[in-house]
Amino acid sequence: MKIAVIGLGSVGRGVLETLAGKNIGLSVTGIADSKSGYIDPSGIDIKKVLMQKKKTGRCGDAGVTAMDVVREADYDILVEVSPTNATDGEPALSYMKTAIKRKKHVVTSNKGPIALAYKELKALAKKKGVALRHEATVAGAVPVFHTVEQGLAGNDIRAVFGVLNGTCNYILTRMAEEGLTYEQALLEAREMGYAEADPTYDVKGIDAAIKLVILANTIWGNGVTLDDVDRTGIDRLTPEAIRLAEEGDCTIRLIAEADKSSGLLRVSPRIIRKNHPLVVEGSLNAISIETDLAKEITLIGKGAGSIETASAIIGDLLFIAERYGRRP
Ligand code: HSE
Repeated sequence: MKIAVIGLGSVGRGVLETLAGKNIGLSVTGIADSKSGYIDPSGIDIKKVLMQKKKTGRCGDAGVTAMDVVREADYDILVEVSPTNATDGEPALSYMKTAIKRKKHVVTSNKGPIALAYKELKALAKKKGVALRHEATVAGAVPVFHTVEQGLAGNDIRAVFGVLNGTCNYILTRMAEEGLTYEQALLEAREMGYAEADPTYDVKGIDAAIKLVILANTIWGNGVTLDDVDRTGIDRLTPEAIRLAEEGDCTIRLIAEADKSSGLLRVSPRIIRKNHPLVVEGSLNAISIETDLAKEITLIGKGAGSIETASAIIGDLLFIAERYGRRP
């Protein structure tokens, strides 16, 4: 199948590097970053584009926009991995809608449009007979939606608990283990590249809440929004609070929880026992899924990172290729 990639940041680069390094059977016919675009129906030389991007900061021609690529390139799947906008989802939301209206499948890591308009996008995709997949929006490499939709098919998903923000988890781990202050630990998390462009999204629990909304809407289709989440961040936690928790063989983690029957949606710092499955270290993410048949399943893995997030995108691409057939 042919793909067009919109966005050449960390995730876009990870996808292209993976496609250049592995024979996955997908060709790239369109590509765009915020400043340029490139269309080639016969297949783009990925290594050349990556090199050009590194040298010039542009992947293609300044006269070609991302929307030109979405509208005009010949592709089967749009890979939308441009920077997220949690306020109105744009311009990514328009790219996705335009692609779906052209009867193209969409795979995305973009949290904004999926948190804001999942229902609308899904309905549009259904009408046009195409797939909308967003595994990479929640917990990076962790295949939570594949697990719920395929592995746990037939189960009633009753509740979900998760450590969904790597930045907060890193900060809490460093404060507990090394006695760092909140400010020192946040600085480190930013230097490691885990934090959002605006780290208040991480530390105030907004990023985790966005992911919780995506989880709830995908699993239960209940149309919840960010305003429905009862949210407390970690920005007011003191080293003293963490020390007290540690004395009782416990620690503090930012836990996101969603419960089907009560409708509870909450993100808050919680004191939990150190041997609890959700107590993961550093920038890791963890998600526990409670079901009627399988009971509890916990997935742990990298919640961010270029190649790690690309793994989720590639999984979605190959899912679509498998289900909708490869075109020569
Ligand atoms: N800032 C996010 C985190 C990146 O720390 O988890 C992945 O969504």
